[in-house]
Amino acid sequence: MMGLKESLLKYELQREIEAAKKLEKKEQYDKAIKHYTRAAAIYRRLAYNAPVEKAQTMFDRASRYENIVKYIRHRESVESLKEMSPSVQNEIIQSIIVSEKPETEWNEIGGLGEAKRTIKEAIILPFIESKPPFVKAQRTILLYGPPGTGKTLLAKAASNTLDATFFDARASSLLSKYFGESLKIIDFLFKKAKEMQPSVIFMDELDSLGVRRGADVSEATRRVVGQLLIEIDGFNTGREEKILIIAATNRPWELDEALISRFQKKIYVPLPDFEARRSIFKIHLSQAELKGVSFDKLAELTENFSGRDIANVCQEAVIRMVREENPELESLTSKQLEEYVLKYRPLVLDDFKRVIEEIEPSVKLEEIEKFEQWGKEGFFESKREEKEKLYERLADLERKKKSLEKAKEMIEKEFLQRTIEKDSFNKMLNEYEAQLIQIKAEIEEIKKELGKPPSD
Ligand SMILES: Nc1ncnc2c1ncn2[C@@H]1O[C@H](COP(=O)(O)OP(=O)(O)OP(=O)(O)O)[C@@H](O)[C@H]1O
Ligand SMILES: [Mg+2]
Repeated sequence: MMGLKESLLKYELQREIEAAKKLEKKEQYDKAIKHYTRAAAIYRRLAYNAPVEKAQTMFDRASRYENIVKYIRHRESVESLKEMSPSVQNEIIQSIIVSEKPETEWNEIGGLGEAKRTIKEAIILPFIESKPPFVKAQRTILLYGPPGTGKTLLAKAASNTLDATFFDARASSLLSKYFGESLKIIDFLFKKAKEMQPSVIFMDELDSLGVRRGADVSEATRRVVGQLLIEIDGFNTGREEKILIIAATNRPWELDEALISRFQKKIYVPLPDFEARRSIFKIHLSQAELKGVSFDKLAELTENFSGRDIANVCQEAVIRMVREENPELESLTSKQLEEYVLKYRPLVLDDFKRVIEEIEPSVKLEEIEKFEQWGKEGFFESKREEKEKLYERLADLERKKKSLEKAKEMIEKEFLQRTIEKDSFNKMLNEYEAQLIQIKAEIEEIKKELGKPPSD
């Protein structure tokens, strides 16, 4: 059972990592480095106190964050990867695409029965050697849904079930500042995944590759998406490899359609309903001492809360209780901390109520509607506006075409009756003809774009 001190450390750890990632995204590298370094230090501390079988993982994670720090420093100081020695290159690429063996179990994920079932089916098939050739496994899965609902957990549990190597390939880290690096990283990722089968490639934050056509995106992003499309295509059609690609996004409407269409399975990961909230509370409080706390009541009080919100409520309630019971904690030196015995009491409903009252659900209701809408529209919502414009333009062109044809017809009639000014009539006819050809070509173009059959 996890001690209180350990869970406090883990809580701190999570906060450090979250802060680091946020700062890194904002390109505040100096600050990000500080948080990553602290995270690494906490992992080392946890490792020293962990049972042997877990210690290795903890050390691995510590060095993972140390590597990220190294990478960020390098990124600051050198122009590009090309300038580094191959071994440094390798090390850096490895730190970008972290591989690990996650320990998340299915029963640590509350609710999401449908999503769990689908993923389990998808992951089991490729691993059954003996099956008829027409039974094809779906090995590319897109998880979409609001933040903090369990997408990453699902990917990790899948990886754990397969005892697979988990490649944490956040899309944002694939988007290296230097175009040459990105392609190298992607190439390395897929090669390594093949080498270390069974593997799960987890592409989190897929939306950072959001390149809806027409949007203003960099050439580098386009190339990265292009390369990914090629890799995934080869993978979808290729022979059975024990690799699963799971991508996650909380802004699916920003994704490129070509990219979305490559995923054989798209799974909605929604906010937890009453039952799911109940079980998420149970999961997160499985080790806590409670007195008179009803899970029904907790679920009732947290409508519209995400799994992450609920996890935060639980942690916050514990932390506040600890603070209350140990007012002297803050003033202790680290030497004293080592010997300190933490005082605590069971948690009561009021501890939770206080926290819940202060926490706003992190996901807005309008956002939920957007997700549901996007799912219903058959994933083409992202293109609707664009399509509507095309339809308008098409109607406009068809109208022009008709009137031009009519005008042409009239001129031709006139032309036959006339004996003088034939030349200028001829010129007019030619002009109309040229315009018609142009319009017809554009009509065909648009029809192709809209997936309609050509006119004749
Ligand atoms: N269904 C759930 N069951 C149990 N815990 C959950 C669930 N959903 C979220 N959590 C808690 O919230 C944390 C964040 O969940 P997770 O990382 O899976 O969210 P996510 O959907 O990947 O979010 P994001 O879109 O922000 O990446 C988990 O570590 C866990 O503590
Ligand atoms: Mg996630």
